[in-house]
Amino acid sequence: MEARDCINTRRSIRKYLQKPVEFDKVTAILEAATKAPSAGNTQDYRFIVITDKDLIGKIAEHCTEQYWITTAPLIIVVCADLEKAKAHYGIRGERLYTTQNAAAAIQNMLLTAHNLELGSCWVGSFDEDYVNDLLGIPGHARPQAIIPIGYPDEEPREKEEKPIEDMVFFNSYGNKIENMHFVTQEYNKEISKMLKKTEPAVQSGLEKLKTEAEKLFDKARDKVKKK
Ligand SMILES: Cc1cc2nc3c(=O)[nH]c(=O)nc-3n(C[C@H](O)[C@H](O)[C@H](O)COP(=O)(O)O)c2cc1C
Repeated sequence: MEARDCINTRRSIRKYLQKPVEFDKVTAILEAATKAPSAGNTQDYRFIVITDKDLIGKIAEHCTEQYWITTAPLIIVVCADLEKAKAHYGIRGERLYTTQNAAAAIQNMLLTAHNLELGSCWVGSFDEDYVNDLLGIPGHARPQAIIPIGYPDEEPREKEEKPIEDMVFFNSYGNKIENMHFVTQEYNKEISKMLKKTEPAVQSGLEKLKTEAEKLFDKARDKVKKK
């Protein structure tokens, strides 16, 4: 699937078929997670893979009783290890970067799952202390999200989408433009005009470079011949 299609068609899935997920698909999702950007390349995201029905049941109950999670054959608890970011970047690293790193990993996971025809959902509502105790998460780590994964057994509900113009500002916060697509179209036109104008200069520059390179090459060949 094209990256853009994958992004546009991914949805949260909250009901799964009773069909196990192939291990190579789980591995692909985890590998995608570890490829996410992280501040200073700390790669401080950690993943607990859970297939134990009992554990999944206990966790679902402590995700504010979101029992739909128990339909998933597998869940992945995404944690952040806080130590490196704290040491390198202080409070900002500990509180912000660790969460952002994990969020980038989570989005990679959701998209990869979707690309492999799996469903998933980002679950952020859970009892953190309970999950820490249950899974032995140490004090220097923090669970960020719980990701149930499985083959979809539902069509996601219609999604209400805000217009892009409500979210995009130009040059200063709040400075909206009325029609984003129109503006980007105009911007494209300007860029093509500019490229057309600079094209001859670029071409003649390339020709010059080619001639110089040929001259240098001939010189080097002559030197070798003389030897
Ligand atoms: C930080 C965060 C926490 C979320 N927590 C939950 C959750 O606890 N339960 C749930 O069903 N969905 C949760 N979601 C999923 C959102 O409800 C969902 O992404 C949103 O409604 C948009 O729908 P879509 O994912 O289908 O595009 C969470 C999403 C994010 C980013």
